[in-house]
Amino acid sequence: MSRLTRRDFLRDAALLATASAALAGDSYAQPWEEPILKKVGPNDKIRVAVIGFNGQGLSHIKAYAAMPETEVAVVCDCDANLADRGIKAAADIQKTAPKFEQDLRRVMEDRSIDVVTIATPNHWHALAAIWAVQNGKDVYVEKPVSHNVFEGRRLVEIAREHQRIVQTGTQSRSNAGMRQAIEYLHAGHLGQIKLAKGLCYKFRPSIGPRVTGEVPKTVHYDLWCGPAPLLPPQRTRFHYDWHWFWDYGNGDLGNQGIHEMDKARWGLKLDRLCDRVFSFGGRLGYTDAGETANTQVSCFDYGDVQIIFEVRGLATADPMGKNRGKNFVGNIWYGTEGTMVSSSYDAAVVLDPQDKVVKQFKGGGQHHANFIKAVKSRKVEDLNADVEQGHISSALCHLANISYRMGTLHPFESLSMLNQRSSLAPEIERLRVHLEDNKIAINSDLRLQVGMDLAFDPAKEQFTGYRQANAWLTREYRKGFEVPGHSA
Ligand SMILES: NC(=O)c1ccc[n+]([C@@H]2O[C@H](COP(=O)([O-])OP(=O)(O)OC[C@H]3O[C@@H](n4cnc5c(N)ncnc54)[C@H](O)[C@@H]3O)[C@@H](O)[C@H]2O)c1
Repeated sequence: MSRLTRRDFLRDAALLATASAALAGDSYAQPWEEPILKKVGPNDKIRVAVIGFNGQGLSHIKAYAAMPETEVAVVCDCDANLADRGIKAAADIQKTAPKFEQDLRRVMEDRSIDVVTIATPNHWHALAAIWAVQNGKDVYVEKPVSHNVFEGRRLVEIAREHQRIVQTGTQSRSNAGMRQAIEYLHAGHLGQIKLAKGLCYKFRPSIGPRVTGEVPKTVHYDLWCGPAPLLPPQRTRFHYDWHWFWDYGNGDLGNQGIHEMDKARWGLKLDRLCDRVFSFGGRLGYTDAGETANTQVSCFDYGDVQIIFEVRGLATADPMGKNRGKNFVGNIWYGTEGTMVSSSYDAAVVLDPQDKVVKQFKGGGQHHANFIKAVKSRKVEDLNADVEQGHISSALCHLANISYRMGTLHPFESLSMLNQRSSLAPEIERLRVHLEDNKIAINSDLRLQVGMDLAFDPAKEQFTGYRQANAWLTREYRKGFEVPGHSA
C-alpha cells in the first residue's frame, strides 16, 4: 500500500469512527412509527390503500391509520395469509377495519380510494404506481421507485401527465437533522465539495443453496411475479430474499444503499444521472442462491464531482476494527473547508480540517405526513421526496449494477491495473483488509467481477454506444404487466 493510500484509508476510517462516537445511540428507527394523535373527525378522511405489507407495508398501515386526515380503507397483499395481520394493524389504531384485497387490480379500479401506498418487491414498484396514477390516485411508492431506469422515467412522465402527487420512501429527506445538514452543505460552509462517499456496510448472511422453492399456498404467484418471468422461486425463504435476485431485486445497492445514494446526490446538488459509471465486486464468502453482489464498489463521475459507493454484506469490523458484524451505513462529504459525516437517516456531524467535530445536526420528521400535505395542497413542490428525485437515485443504483453485470472475472491483484481511477485506491485497500478480516484469501483463486467503465448520456438516459448495457435499462415485461411505452 502506498503511503498516500494508507493515509487516505486511515482517514476515512477515523472519520467514520468520529462520527459514530458523536452520534452514539442513533439508529435507523423510523420516526413515523410513533402514532400521531388524531385531531379531526372521521368525515373528511383521505382513503388509503396499502399494497404489500409483509414488512415495510405494515409501517405504512400504522402511519396512515394514525394520521388525522387519513384512513386505511384497503389492505392488499397477494399473500392471503397476511390479511388478518394487516387488518388488525389498521383496526388497532383507527378503530375501523379495512377491507382485504388480494388482487391489486381491484384496488386500482376502486374509485373510493384516493391514495395508494406501495411496499411490494421492487419489480412491481413502477408498474403499480403507474396503474394507480392512471386511475387518478396519488401514490407513496417505496424506494427504489423502479426496478430499471426506463420504468422509473416513465413513472415520472405519467405522474406529471396525470398531475398526480407521487412521493418515494427515502425518509431522510423529511428529517429535520438531515435537511439542516444538507442546507449547510448547499450554503457552501464546507467549501467546494468534489466527492461524496456512500457506505452500506450491512451484514447479509447466506440465504442458503439454490432450490426449487415452494410457493406458499396462500400466495397468488402470478400476481407476485407480475412484470417478472413466471418461474419457480429459487430460494428457501419466499418473502424478502427476492432482494438478491436480478429478476425482482437490485441487491443491497438498491435496497439499504439507495437511502445513502440519495443523500450523497442531494448533498452534492446533482439533479441528474452521471456521465460515467464503473462498478466491481462479487458475491463473496459463501456460495448460495443469491445473484446480486454482496461486496461492491461503484463510482459515478459527474465531470469534476464524484460519488463513490461501497456495499458490504460480509461481516464488517467497525471503523476502529472492533465490533465485528456491526452495521455501518452512512455518507461522507469531503469539502475544502471540512468534512461532513452522516451515519443515520436523521443526523450528521461536521468535522474541521483537523477532524474535530465542530457542528452536529439531529432531528426527525414525518415523511408520510409530508406526502399527505402535498396531496392536500396539490403542489409537487411541497414534497420532500418527489418521484423524480426517487427516479434519479434509483437509476444510479441500476447503472452501477449494469456496469457490474457487464463485467468479467479478474484476480484481486489486477484491480489496480484494470482500474485507471487512482481515486478508488483507498476503496481497493479497504476491501483487501475487509476480505482478510473475513478470512478470504487474496490469491489467484479469488476473482472479482470487474465491470465495464461505461459512458452515459444523462440527457437521453442512455449509455453511449453499448447495446447490451442499453438493453439492461429496461426488461422484457410479461404480457398483461407491460409498463406503458415499452417497445417489445
Ligand atoms: N423506506 C424504508 O426504509 C424501507 C424499509 C424496508 C423496506 N422498504 C421497501 O419496501 C418494499 C418491501 O420490502 P419488504 O421488506 O416489506 O418485502 P417483503 O417481501 O417482506 O414484503 C413484500 C410484500 O409484498 C407482497 N406483494 C408482492 N407482490 C404483490 C402484488 N402484486 N400485490 C400485492 N402484494 C404483493 C408480498 O406478498 C409481500 O407480502 C421493498 O421495495 C423495500 O425496498 C423500504
